[in-house]
Amino acid sequence: IGKDSFGDAPMVQSQEYTDKKWFKIDHLSPMLANDTVLVRGSLQTSRSVGKGVFVVLRSTMYTVQGVCFQDNKDIPPEMIKYIAGLPVESIVDMEGVVTVPSQPVEACTQKMVEIHIKNFFCVAKAKKAMPFQIEDAMRPDDCKESDVGAYEANDDAMAPRQDGLPSVGLENRLNYRWVDLRTPANQGIFRIESMVGCLFRECLMEKGFIELHSPKLIKGASEGGAEVFTLDYFGEQACLSMSPQLHKQMACACSGFERVFVTGPVFRAENSNTTRHLAEFWMIEPEMAFYDLEDNANLAEEFIQYVIKYAVENNKEDLEFLAQRLTEEEKALPQDKRSEMGLLEKLEFVLNNSFERLTYTAAIEILKESNHNKKKKFQYEITDWGMDLQSEHERYLVEKHFKKPVILTNYPAAIKSFYMRYDDNCAPDRQTVAAMDILAPGIGEIVGGSQREERLDKLEQKMKDMHIPAEELSWYLDTRRFGACPHAGFGLGFERLVQFVTGMGNIRDVIPFPRYPKSAEF
Ligand code: AMO
Repeated sequence: IGKDSFGDAPMVQSQEYTDKKWFKIDHLSPMLANDTVLVRGSLQTSRSVGKGVFVVLRSTMYTVQGVCFQDNKDIPPEMIKYIAGLPVESIVDMEGVVTVPSQPVEACTQKMVEIHIKNFFCVAKAKKAMPFQIEDAMRPDDCKESDVGAYEANDDAMAPRQDGLPSVGLENRLNYRWVDLRTPANQGIFRIESMVGCLFRECLMEKGFIELHSPKLIKGASEGGAEVFTLDYFGEQACLSMSPQLHKQMACACSGFERVFVTGPVFRAENSNTTRHLAEFWMIEPEMAFYDLEDNANLAEEFIQYVIKYAVENNKEDLEFLAQRLTEEEKALPQDKRSEMGLLEKLEFVLNNSFERLTYTAAIEILKESNHNKKKKFQYEITDWGMDLQSEHERYLVEKHFKKPVILTNYPAAIKSFYMRYDDNCAPDRQTVAAMDILAPGIGEIVGGSQREERLDKLEQKMKDMHIPAEELSWYLDTRRFGACPHAGFGLGFERLVQFVTGMGNIRDVIPFPRYPKSAEF
């Protein structure tokens, strides 16, 4: 103690220094009372009070309070001054005696302990001026967009919250993402995301699936359309894959694996600035031989329920942390009247109610009827069978009409991808395909899938009708020539699923470093 008890820490290469053992903040409990512990973390706050100082140290999402008062004769006044003067977010080592406070420390996760500081060293100093305060970034941003998904970066200026306290706009967060990710809510979000990444493998492996990797550099647009990023491939043009679609079909139906899944980043060059679109996102894509549309829908529903069930049972703490960032609206299952449900109750509601299933044709009738009865005026009115649904229609169906997730099936062939299987026995002017989309409250489409067209003649005809030149996909047509199993599959947007589980209103919140048309420099 004395001048050796505080200050800027010596360089890490010092032998003496590396012998130290750090105690994890989340393991601190009253059982350690009177023990001396050394903890390392970020200095979240430091507050001078009379002749002393209170600090809060944070490691990942856990925090503990430290106190240092001059009435202890071993504490020199310079030490108090040094601690109080350190810039917040500096990385510090704090050593002291664990005590049990008379009142719980409400501001910290480790409420039942406090550390009476004996030594305090700064390992890495932060600059005084932070881009924003972590405390401000912990609050929900009241001014978030709340419409059907439009999100313009410039609208995200730091408008004041209703309670007058500052919050941090998303663009500002994303420009300093490495700082923003320190908030407990973000730590919770990405723990859940990491858990989802393990769970989908667990769920599918238990059912006999194997994971395959598909190429991300491919020749053409796997989903059709022009929304691909192109690049030079040894003097020829190639694309970044929009989906492993055609390769996973080949592996599942034509290569003997039968149940496969592919996951990884996919790329879409659509200039969509909404709360649910990214230019690069992750997809979970299972493909199953001998599955029909119903088996496909059952698996997708079971899979989503599996993930939510696990999160509700095992990630309560993460869900509580991230709920700090949710507005009342985001926490609630969207309904006519704002519900009082918290995020956990919302997830439990989803678990206890099976998804609504209906055909596109039935959905169109509901939408036409709602418009007609003036229950809902859509910007884009559905007048005829065959029109594509917009997000306002999808959200009306799940949020207002059924108030739960919906599996929409049997879409018109003309508005879906070429590889989807024709439904047999359709009216000649109403040809549908065995497609399904799963729509979730608060988000819209989280899954797209179908039974696939395995019949070569039908596939060739379909490509012709859709003006897709057969030469461009001759290899894909060949996969149907040497024995191909009937099959089905789906693609689940990884980030949209995490958005659903975490209740976050904007997809950029659930990917560490988002790519979107106007994304940040790094
Ligand atoms: P689809 O194009 O419908 O299907 O995409 C499947 C799922 O991916 C998510 N998604 C997106 N997420 C973020 N940003 C985007 N721009 C974006 N676009 C789509 C959605 C969507 O439901 N190969 C087929 C799937 C299949 O049939 O197996 C496919 O790619 O959650």
